[in-house]
Amino acid sequence: MAKIYKRVSIVVSCVAMVMSFRTALPLPLIFLLVIHNAFSKNGLGVNYRDSHICALKHSSVIMSCNYIYPTGYKIKKVFWTKNPVKGEEPPDLSEDPEYSRRLQYLGDEQQNCTIRLSHVTQKDSNMYYFRFITNKPGEKWLGVPGVSLTVTDLQVESPETVTEGDSVRLTCKSSCALTDRATFIWYRNSQPLTERRDRNNQLLLQSVRREDAGRYSCGVQGHNHYLKSTDVQLNVTYPPRNVSVFINGSSEIVEGDSVTLICSSDSNPPALNFTWFQENQSSSVGSGQSFSALQSGRFYCEAHNQHGSQRSDAVTVTVHGVYH
Ligand SMILES: *[C@@H]1O[C@H](CO)[C@@H](O)[C@H](O)[C@H]1NC(C)=O
Ligand SMILES: *[C@@H]1O[C@H](CO)[C@@H](O)[C@H](O)[C@H]1NC(C)=O
Repeated sequence: MAKIYKRVSIVVSCVAMVMSFRTALPLPLIFLLVIHNAFSKNGLGVNYRDSHICALKHSSVIMSCNYIYPTGYKIKKVFWTKNPVKGEEPPDLSEDPEYSRRLQYLGDEQQNCTIRLSHVTQKDSNMYYFRFITNKPGEKWLGVPGVSLTVTDLQVESPETVTEGDSVRLTCKSSCALTDRATFIWYRNSQPLTERRDRNNQLLLQSVRREDAGRYSCGVQGHNHYLKSTDVQLNVTYPPRNVSVFINGSSEIVEGDSVTLICSSDSNPPALNFTWFQENQSSSVGSGQSFSALQSGRFYCEAHNQHGSQRSDAVTVTVHGVYH
């Protein structure tokens, strides 16, 4: 019972709205539910080629449409508008300083209402409607549901840090599904990557090497515009490599002096934890990045970070006795 009542009331409100349509502006959203093709009984109407457009930032957008009205009518005014308010004459976008220089009416005063909007930015994401006014009193039309324009830029989605040997997937994200079949181009440190391009908008780095660290960006070639994302830094962490001991000064000293040994390594994050050993001794002889050797022997260090550790080759320290 409630269902039937609801349906009846929708039909009634549709009729009421169609009747009031010519004089007052209905809310576009309500109209979306009511009239899909946007043709009225009076023979006034607008058809859009695309109801949704996803455009790359800074590109030019063509909103293609045509309009009809009964023979014998003359067209007095044609324009595009946005954000119409019920009961008010909608504003002409070509008089809006935000649009006037970027808007080009490609249509005519007969049936073609195509328009081009250039240099779009995210601020232009909106619903747009074509409006025409005829010479017959009250016979004017707003073409709902209009064209939904979404302007997108590109963003690389990637983890900040990946550990060497792991796989990582980078995604080139847009805020709407690009209308054209887009070709994505990937860059590392501004150099195009030709190899290892994954399907669609993703780049798969398998078994990451430290050379894969760098600034990544992606680009898309649209039909009239090329758009590139900003860079995203990918940090590759790895355990210490190339661990070696540097001798500060001479490795041959006299008794009573000491020689400073320094442990260096290549690791990310940098190794902060070092252990010193002397060959043929079972336990460590020191810690810290530098170590003071006081006696003869062969010394080596081991560098650690959270991903692992590596030991260096040994260096020889010789202490000469002092003869009195
Ligand atoms: C409307 O005009 C545009 C621009 O001149 C043109 O590209 C388009 O084909 C025309 N559309 C129709 C249906 O004639
Ligand atoms: C990479 O990540 C590690 C661990 O989070 C950090 O310590 C290091 O500073 C980062 N390196 C760069 C170049 O961002």
